[in-house]
Amino acid sequence: MMEKIREGDDVLLYLDKRRSYLVRVEKEKELHTHRGYLSVGSLIGKEYGARILSSRGVEFVAFKPTIRDYVFKISRRTQIIYPKDIALIIFYSGVGPGSRVVEGGTGAGALAAALASYVKPSGRVYSYEIREEFLEVAAENLRRVGVADYVELKMGDDGGDRGEGGGRRHPGLGDPLACRAPRL
Ligand SMILES: C[S@@+](CC[C@H](N)C(=O)[O-])C[C@H]1O[C@@H](n2cnc3c(N)ncnc32)[C@H](O)[C@@H]1O
Repeated sequence: MMEKIREGDDVLLYLDKRRSYLVRVEKEKELHTHRGYLSVGSLIGKEYGARILSSRGVEFVAFKPTIRDYVFKISRRTQIIYPKDIALIIFYSGVGPGSRVVEGGTGAGALAAALASYVKPSGRVYSYEIREEFLEVAAENLRRVGVADYVELKMGDDGGDRGEGGGRRHPGLGDPLACRAPRL
């Protein structure tokens, strides 16, 4: 049986290749779009993949969001690492369940969220960021994706500009995966 949509879940309301909306399901919530408004609460109890009509009779599909969907939609104040590059990083690095990874430059937490979803439940991501305001945004994004328990956010310099690399500067944390290009 397909998983059912519950109150408090995030759903991706898909209209077409260019337009989709990531929304939290709440009883009285409406989503207003240029194609009419949708009663988001009416999805409660329906299966993922359900179709929903807007007030103008336009069909949307309610999907369970993937990490890729979150990466594109999360709030950001920095440039993020995009899914194509995240896929390469994960593919080439061999990161998997149980890995302990050090990331330099948390930013909005897009890469950290993706890495966490691969290393969980026993692995950890340790992510360094020098700007406190970015760490706050990242913490919220990681909570929304549901992977905050697998990421330790660390305020501080990752050591990359001195050629040290996060892993070497903080021995014992994990396999260094330097993602922020050092300043040359
Ligand atoms: C391009 S963003 C990172 C994107 C992030 N990995 C993501 O996927 O959302 C680069 C980040 O590196 C941070 N940064 C720059 N120098 C740093 C340093 N020496 N140590 C730690 N973070 C640093 C910046 O503040 C910025 O947030």
